Amino acid sequence: VENTFKNIISHAKEYGFVFPSSEIYDGLQAVYDYGQNGVELKNNIKTAWWKAMTQLNDNVVGIDAAIFMHPTTWKASGHVDGFSDPMIDNKDSKKRYRADVLIEDKAAEYEKNGDKAKGDALVKSLARLLEANDLKGVQDLIISEKIKCPVSGTSNWTEVRQFNLMFSTQVGAVAEDSSTIYLRPETAQGIFVNYLNVQKTGRMKIPFGIAQIGKAFRNEIVARQFTFRMREFEQMEMQFFIRPGEEMKWYEEWKQVRLKWHKAIGLPEGKLKFHNHEKLAHYANAAVDIEYEFPFGFKEIEGIHSRTDFDLGNHEKYSKKKLQYFDNELNKNYVPYVVETSVGADRAFLAILCNAYTEETVGEGDDKKERVYLKLHPALAPVKAAIFPLVKKDGLPEKAQEIYKELRMDMNVIYEERDAIGKRYTRQDLIGTPFCIVVDYDTLKDNSVTIRYRDTMEQERVPISELRQKIRKATSF
Ligand code: GAP
Repeated sequence: VENTFKNIISHAKEYGFVFPSSEIYDGLQAVYDYGQNGVELKNNIKTAWWKAMTQLNDNVVGIDAAIFMHPTTWKASGHVDGFSDPMIDNKDSKKRYRADVLIEDKAAEYEKNGDKAKGDALVKSLARLLEANDLKGVQDLIISEKIKCPVSGTSNWTEVRQFNLMFSTQVGAVAEDSSTIYLRPETAQGIFVNYLNVQKTGRMKIPFGIAQIGKAFRNEIVARQFTFRMREFEQMEMQFFIRPGEEMKWYEEWKQVRLKWHKAIGLPEGKLKFHNHEKLAHYANAAVDIEYEFPFGFKEIEGIHSRTDFDLGNHEKYSKKKLQYFDNELNKNYVPYVVETSVGADRAFLAILCNAYTEETVGEGDDKKERVYLKLHPALAPVKAAIFPLVKKDGLPEKAQEIYKELRMDMNVIYEERDAIGKRYTRQDLIGTPFCIVVDYDTLKDNSVTIRYRDTMEQERVPISELRQKIRKATSF
């Protein structure tokens, strides 16, 4: 399992999906860049989400708010006071850890060793202590459980302290005029502060939603598992504005809608599950995660939260602006309640990549060999089709170019004439291209080509006139 994940990480780098940031300087921890294939895959995931949310729902529209926001936003949202993780340092290794993660890891260890009850009890105690903000209690738990630093192997710990996860910077050129602002730790607040702008200009009636895709930043204490936990990442969030009292109905509804989406983009049902939160974020009255089974276990890819009127109510208080909605049917004003769906684009990407990565043995006897390919949903594949002339002469390249130039008006395709055909297939398998189109001598006579399918490696003869339509259909949801 560990090996599979290592292979996936090297594959991502070797084939232009994900590179460590600033690699020539040995990288920057928990920051990554997407390469030529990665950006296509990620864009396809984002487009799938955007369309599912805005196009397939009558009452959801999109926005694109700025990363910088007025600093009071983060006072009102509770992030200045409450968006922190409990951290602890080991005095010997000088390494910093998230205290809650150390305890959760210990609980997982109990479970692995067959004592699930003990693990569960530990997680419950942790939740109780965090709820009460009892940091001394958390520290005592680490000591009584004899949790050791994975680096030094000692249990020589400091006290537990809260560590705010927001990055700050200065705006203003001269020191006197400058003030501290934050890089947004969630995209949601850009939606909350714009909700009336959108409601009024779009003449939206409750219930309605606002969707957004954008960068968010968190100074994560533990950064591990590749792109699972990054310091700069992208969120795809939707705030759904509803009548107070209807939150449970919408919460249940969006849970199901969002689970369906993950299945639609190709994640198998058996690798997805809901996980109810033991510990609620400072803004939520109900929260659930959609988890995917990564090679390192079931982990959150999306959060669905009932945020009540927490955010809008506080923005009203801090901004002293009315953020109420007049409900014609009820003939009254109220601050809407909000149910949000929030999925990390990078986590969805990682889940899709882990799920697609396939190692298999093909052939028999002497022909037996290992094959690696990405079994991506064709709609998500970075390259939809590769067009190859069988040989580099006799007019085959010109014919293949003709097809290539027609298809590229519709989708991302590539033309390749170098190397033997088998090698060209392999290169496309490695980046998940679902179709390879081969132009051979017969093509010049019958105006047909051979399509070779990535997953089955089977081949089919298809008239050129049907190609565009066929591939277009096969590469949409
Ligand atoms: N507005 C609600 C919110 O931000 P969250 O559960 O903190 O909720 C939502 O984050 C999603 O954002 C997560 O499910 C995850 O997919 C993604 N996410 C959060 N922190 C992340 C990080 N450090 N790196 C990558 N993705 C992250």
